[in-house]
Amino acid sequence: AAEIQSDLTTVLVTEEEILAKLEEIAAQVAVDYAGKDLLLVGVLKGAVMVMADFSRALPSSVPMDWMAVSSYGAGTKSSGVVQIRKDLDTDLHDKHVLIVEDIIDSGLTLSWLLENFASRGALSIEVFALLRKPDAAKVQVDCRYVGFDIPNEFVVGYGLDYADEYRNLRDVAVLAPHVYS
Ligand code: PRP
Ligand code: MN
Ligand code: MG
Repeated sequence: AAEIQSDLTTVLVTEEEILAKLEEIAAQVAVDYAGKDLLLVGVLKGAVMVMADFSRALPSSVPMDWMAVSSYGAGTKSSGVVQIRKDLDTDLHDKHVLIVEDIIDSGLTLSWLLENFASRGALSIEVFALLRKPDAAKVQVDCRYVGFDIPNEFVVGYGLDYADEYRNLRDVAVLAPHVYS
């Protein structure tokens, strides 16, 4: 199993900062979706932690579904090929969909997902990403709610992994290059 502390350089966002931001965004989402049939769609596996904390920051009951897609595999660079490992269980007709993601890096995963969702008949589709790397964008993604813009470094923790490790770290931190080089 991977050691945690010696594999990290800097903590970029602490758990405390994340939870405070989620409260803020949840309050905004509650206002924006008042009276609407909202469905949260989490993108497995990275979005597990943000979905858990964000959904519990919302003031009322909300259904959630999950889609499992993967493009990074065991590396630090997106393969550019997005694979569906698990599709939604929910029919999107008559739903206002909010996709919940941990991070927008190149943007390839979300732009692919948005295109995939477009034909499923949702009333609206918006994105909430906890993290975004503006300097890494290969495609522009229309993201309505963003937690934190971060520098273009490989980060792990709070759901984000390297080769499926470090997801259970509470903070978001930069992975030391010696781990993957
Ligand atoms: C990661 C992350 C996002 C995506 C962002 O998922 O959780 O879903 O990459 O990168 P992009 O903007 O460059 O597409 P990953 O493919 O590693 O799968 P995982 O969520 O199971 O870790
Ligand atoms: Mn992911
Ligand atoms: Mg990953």
